[in-house]
Amino acid sequence: MTFPYTRLRRLRKNPVLRKMVEETAISVNDLVMPLFVCHGSGVRREVQSMPGNYQMSVDNVVKECKRLYDIGIKAVLLFGIPDKKDETGLVAASDDSIVQKAVRSIKKELPAIFLIADICNCEYTTHGHCGTIVDGDVDNDLTLETLAKQSVSFARAGVDMVAPSDMMDGRVGRIREELDVKGFPDLPIMSYSAKFASAFYGPFRDAAGSSPGFGDRSSYQMNSANSDEAMREIALDIEEGADIVMIKPALAYLDIVSRAKDEFNIPVAAYNVSGEFSMVKAAAAKGWADEERLVREILTSIKRAGADIIITYHAAEIASRLH
Ligand code: PBG
Repeated sequence: MTFPYTRLRRLRKNPVLRKMVEETAISVNDLVMPLFVCHGSGVRREVQSMPGNYQMSVDNVVKECKRLYDIGIKAVLLFGIPDKKDETGLVAASDDSIVQKAVRSIKKELPAIFLIADICNCEYTTHGHCGTIVDGDVDNDLTLETLAKQSVSFARAGVDMVAPSDMMDGRVGRIREELDVKGFPDLPIMSYSAKFASAFYGPFRDAAGSSPGFGDRSSYQMNSANSDEAMREIALDIEEGADIVMIKPALAYLDIVSRAKDEFNIPVAAYNVSGEFSMVKAAAAKGWADEERLVREILTSIKRAGADIIITYHAAEIASRLH
């Protein structure tokens, strides 16, 4: 049957019916809020390029976690801003490194919150690359060792999940092996499986102080033109033991999210990254768009594409508006 008997507008007119037939809904249960933790006390420094996001000392991160939990955001992704860096990033594997301190304090006050730790060396290396440099490039296999040690140290501190974001080959398997041997067989791994070399990470590198001191990350992060390769990355991570696979960034890669959801039967996460967040904030600040509507539309598109989990800097602000 077709027009004039079929009229799709019939389902759009009444707001109750429109809502009843809505196919995709975003929920606070799907959202993860990234947080940046630094040394000191009483520190709450706004990241200039990411309004509403702060570098916070442990005391303030604990407060922020309580606030987020109360408004329904029950999972956070922690990034560390250390006071000292080294050549390999091994400082991050010390049990009194910044993320470990934060994890212990948060868990003491709020054991129910779900803590995810980003596993990578770039915040902890003097050169800002994601691993150990040999002959001007990141050495894959040496880097696996620092990542494995960092993961175990985070696990000992009490994180609920680790999320390797470095894009070294074989890191999921190496981390899984090390966690199992050291007594953490139940700790899940959410792998940044398809992480593209992207200009959308710009504001994050200000927030985390992790810009590469020379060159770029194109020898390890993916070429944004590649979709088949993303599927290979995901397949390998699943084989190595990933429990959740992630696509990053989200918006310019929704086709990858959708394809991942279709091709694999595993939970898919998408990271709505700093640059995507800051573009919305900038447009809203100029009065060029309605921020809340933009955010709802963006998050809905990521969910509709197939993401089960959305990591987003919008989580804190949108939470109270979702029901
Ligand atoms: C690296 C890491 C990055 C992000 C998350 N983990 C930056 C990078 O690869 O340069 C970016 C997140 C964002 O832009 O919001 N460890």
